[in-house]
Amino acid sequence: MSAARPRRIAVIPGDGIGREVIAEAVRVLAEVDRRHELGLEFEEGLAGGAAIDAVGHPIPPKTVELCRRSDAILLGACGGPKWDRGPRELRPEQALFTLRKTFGLYANLRPAIVPPMLLGASPLRREIVEGADLLIVRELTGGLYFGAQSRTGEREHAAALDTLPYSAVEVRRVVRKACEIARRRPRRKVTSVDKANVLETSRLWREVATEVAREFSDLTVEHMLVDNCALQLVYNPKQFDVIVTENMFGDILSDEAAGVMGSLGLMPSASLGDRPPGLFEPVHGTAPDIAGKGIANPLAAILTTALLLRYGLGQEAPAAAIEAAVLQALQDGCRTADLAGGRPALGTAAMTDAVLARLH
Ligand code: IPM
Ligand code: MG
Repeated sequence: MSAARPRRIAVIPGDGIGREVIAEAVRVLAEVDRRHELGLEFEEGLAGGAAIDAVGHPIPPKTVELCRRSDAILLGACGGPKWDRGPRELRPEQALFTLRKTFGLYANLRPAIVPPMLLGASPLRREIVEGADLLIVRELTGGLYFGAQSRTGEREHAAALDTLPYSAVEVRRVVRKACEIARRRPRRKVTSVDKANVLETSRLWREVATEVAREFSDLTVEHMLVDNCALQLVYNPKQFDVIVTENMFGDILSDEAAGVMGSLGLMPSASLGDRPPGLFEPVHGTAPDIAGKGIANPLAAILTTALLLRYGLGQEAPAAAIEAAVLQALQDGCRTADLAGGRPALGTAAMTDAVLARLH
């Protein structure tokens, strides 16, 4: 099954352990490409702290152009203490915001699962997390992150303002995306999360989500207030299937979900719009404390390649094969230091080798 045309992957290693785990992810993609003849082509671009050091800007136009010419973007984490002091437009995170906005990546998918062999890694009791499998769909191009900000006055007269705008169009498209994804999952349930008892944007969110639910009568769609959702994720995470929510709530709840599952080192993410390129990145950060030591866990980055294949290139078979190989490696006892609980651990490259050896 030879691909009709080459598929270009923009590879942006980023900073810290991002560079290390993305190199491993590319190794996995290259192997899958060899076996499935997908016609992948990799081209590297600069972003984040690495770009600030090289050209004085977190996301040079050349990188944006590379992404525009690409079918998918594979990104490591960006940032680190070295670049924390710059002005807002010159901080590494700006690279993320530019990519999200430029390519209209309004839906950010963050799956959180606890594989049976890692139940012990969750801070919650086994019976609470066993079998939990949820997907957070976070709105990514609106709300507080992109609303007007201002600062006035000094010292005791200082004041700051962030604004939280949402339009019905923005709400509708992301809730629809969440419902379409829920349709492909066995439980077919969507929890729309808001703060409709307080915020006007949340009241709009709930109205629109209720309308969208009518288009998906085969799904169960429920509404939940964000504070209750934060609590329910700890009490009973198994009740959730797909959670859809606005940008800031999604930022917070997705970290909570990863923590509850004990699996930040396993969490991939996909940011999608209505057309390519989608952006695919592991959820974890740059971990400056362990960068350069060759011990970072590459599994979130490797699982990210599965999302890239599935949602970015429509290649389900190799995506599922990668996920199965990761689970098999874990099942066989392969662990990086973050999951080894003090026992002997595999390094970044050796863990990738373990996955490659189990790829069918
Ligand atoms: C995330 C991160 C970013 C965000 C930061 C680095 C700006 O926390 O992707 O969740 O808040 O969106
Ligand atoms: Mg976050």
